[in-house]
Amino acid sequence: MESVIVAIDGPSGTGKSSTSRAVAAELGLSYLDTGAQYRAITWWMLTNGIDVDDPGAVAAVCGKPVIESGTDPLAPAISVDGADAAGPIRTREVTSKVSAVSAVPEVRTRITELQRAIAAAAEKGIVVEGRDIGTTVLPGADVKIFLTASPEARAARRSGELKGKEAADLASTREALIRRDAADSSRKASPLAKADDAVEVDTTDLTLQQVIECVVALVEEKRAAR
Ligand code: DC
Repeated sequence: MESVIVAIDGPSGTGKSSTSRAVAAELGLSYLDTGAQYRAITWWMLTNGIDVDDPGAVAAVCGKPVIESGTDPLAPAISVDGADAAGPIRTREVTSKVSAVSAVPEVRTRITELQRAIAAAAEKGIVVEGRDIGTTVLPGADVKIFLTASPEARAARRSGELKGKEAADLASTREALIRRDAADSSRKASPLAKADDAVEVDTTDLTLQQVIECVVALVEEKRAAR
């Protein structure tokens, strides 16, 4: 079977990660979480004392960290300079700073190159999730999906994922999400956006299983038409 590239974009809390992983596992494809890469470079900046609110300082060092992503949808992995980063990239501190770091054009150029190399190396194909995959990273993707959901549904899903002292009340989670999406959508360098040829799926009233089935059907339709 020919390889297939699936781009899944959208704001946070739309079920992007769960959907992307499940679709990749079901279809035997590789999987790449591009948000994890932006989180990893942000974590490296914070642990190395870089002022992440200074784009010049971020740009000057963004080539330094070695970021490696695993592509098994059943065991997503990310490391920075050989150290497992899966836990530290999910802290509230990283989450609150990742929009600033990912808005720096030099950071995007570097991470985009990594993403294209990983996609090109995936023999059977890959599901790549992010914000600018269909528009900028892989504009020639075979299938492009843009997931959306109401702010209330997204905040409820995010709150459910946060545990222990990281857990916030629904209202502040909703505010933080809206702030991050606004920053990601309004930045100059490849903002969060739906590609003209992407299929938009509103997940507000759908179960995760329904979203997965919808995306799998779109990929199979595309394969059958080739
Ligand atoms: O999907 P996530 O919440 O883990 O992504 C974290 C941040 O990374 C998000 O706020 C914006 C940035 N990001 C990006 O700029 N481009 C991507 N392709 C993926 C994520």
